[in-house]
Amino acid sequence: MRPADLIVRKQEGLPITMLTAWDALSAIVVAEAGADMVLVGDSLAMTVLGYGTTLPVTLDEMLHHCRAAGRGLDAWREEQWRCGTDRPAPLLICDLPFLSYQCGADEALAAAGRVLKEAPAAGVKLEGAEPETLAVIDRMVRSGIPVLGHLGLTPQSVHQLGYRRQARDPIAQDRLCRQAERLEAVGCFGLVLEHIPAELATELSRDLRIPVIGIGAGEACDGQVRVTADLLGLTSRQPPFSPPLLDGRGLAVQALRQWISAQRPPQPATRPVAPAAPHC
Ligand code: KIV
Repeated sequence: MRPADLIVRKQEGLPITMLTAWDALSAIVVAEAGADMVLVGDSLAMTVLGYGTTLPVTLDEMLHHCRAAGRGLDAWREEQWRCGTDRPAPLLICDLPFLSYQCGADEALAAAGRVLKEAPAAGVKLEGAEPETLAVIDRMVRSGIPVLGHLGLTPQSVHQLGYRRQARDPIAQDRLCRQAERLEAVGCFGLVLEHIPAELATELSRDLRIPVIGIGAGEACDGQVRVTADLLGLTSRQPPFSPPLLDGRGLAVQALRQWISAQRPPQPATRPVAPAAPHC
């Protein structure tokens, strides 16, 4: 599947699913589960690298994780080929991290180019739709780089916006609609809408030609995206709009505890009292 095919998916009314991955293992699990798209999101700064926000992760770190996810998808493809199944591999998209696209159009283009050249991603995602960001996206698209937009809760702006729901009043909603239209006009192949009112996301899914992929934006979007570690219950801080499907952390701890106790020799029921240590 190519990024442009997603518009056809939207026209056909087929819902799109996107899940995050951060290495080969998680990419294989997500591909095997049947996701249409794999996102190496900068949320990995928090879920995998242990940072408090997405801001510290670097472009080199994103490339490192994206290459690993790409190798996982290659291995999955090979497995499909060996088993004689021809399930299509998910589309691999990588987030551009904070300050890799905000310091001028040349630098932004070079960063996006590295993601396509050095990791096997088919496109990049970046946050916002300020005039400078639109100019950068325009430049990327005209250079052959598919771009996925991201509006609403944009975690790279956490120090301005926090993690609360966005576009809560009519002025902010109108602004977000204009920004979404501009992202479509400059050539984004899709748009992620995070933590905004469901009615607004529904309206935009109806009005935009490009697919709208929601997270915390109601059920009526053209597709849904989730952070895989959240769905699997592996993260300690779950966003309210992404509840876990299972207690992955609890299950893993329980299984490993059982293995650890199986390695220990059985202890006698009552231990002999150790003799008092002699005085030196
Ligand atoms: O970084 C990420 O995982 C994301 C998703 C929440 C859309 O941007």
